[in-house]
Amino acid sequence: MKNIKAIIFDAYGTLFDVNSAAEKCKEKIGDKWESFANYWRTTQLEYTWLRSLMKRHKDFWKITEDSLDKSMKVFNIETGMKNELLNLYKVLSCYPEVKDTLNKLNEKNYKVAILSNGTHSLLNQLVSNNNLENIFDDIFSIEEVGIFKPDSKVYEIPIKKYKIQKEDIVFLSANTWDVSGGGNFGYNAIWVNRNDGIFDNLDYLPKKQVKNLSQLLDILK
Ligand code: LAC
Repeated sequence: MKNIKAIIFDAYGTLFDVNSAAEKCKEKIGDKWESFANYWRTTQLEYTWLRSLMKRHKDFWKITEDSLDKSMKVFNIETGMKNELLNLYKVLSCYPEVKDTLNKLNEKNYKVAILSNGTHSLLNQLVSNNNLENIFDDIFSIEEVGIFKPDSKVYEIPIKKYKIQKEDIVFLSANTWDVSGGGNFGYNAIWVNRNDGIFDNLDYLPKKQVKNLSQLLDILK
């Protein structure tokens, strides 16, 4: 890909492992920890889409808590674990290749940023807990426009800030629907397909697919 000016990353699932909170409690939760983690994530995302459609915005942290409450009931997880799980969500681990890849990108002349549903405070905590400070030019939160992805107002945020065109941007997400959202908007969207998934039928096919972020470096050559 040529003439790219900015590399924009989704956060949850792309840089940070959303299942790592429940995984850290797997002794206590037992074998169902992974189904529980997936259900929590799916419910959290459904709540973002539903709240955007209903025009009843709540920030991502409150939605994370609301979706956790429902998921704990569905999976019969004792209520005493709620605070532990929520606090772990603030310190999600990044995927192993993330730091090295971002450092290499930083040596080049791109703007490097996050564009996420998370609040600024949540995203800043994740970045600092994973020692990723000083890497990003910007951390963009949807709170700047008050509606969740995939509303086009979200994908406009970096365009306005950097005064560039949609096609100057490479956008990476592990979330298929977010790749479809950014791609239909006009970004060069790359799917980070970590788990051999199947892509969506939403009028956009990813410009490229990678198994992890380190493969991005070859694509940008
Ligand atoms: C985010 C969610 C979509 O970080 O993963 O915006």
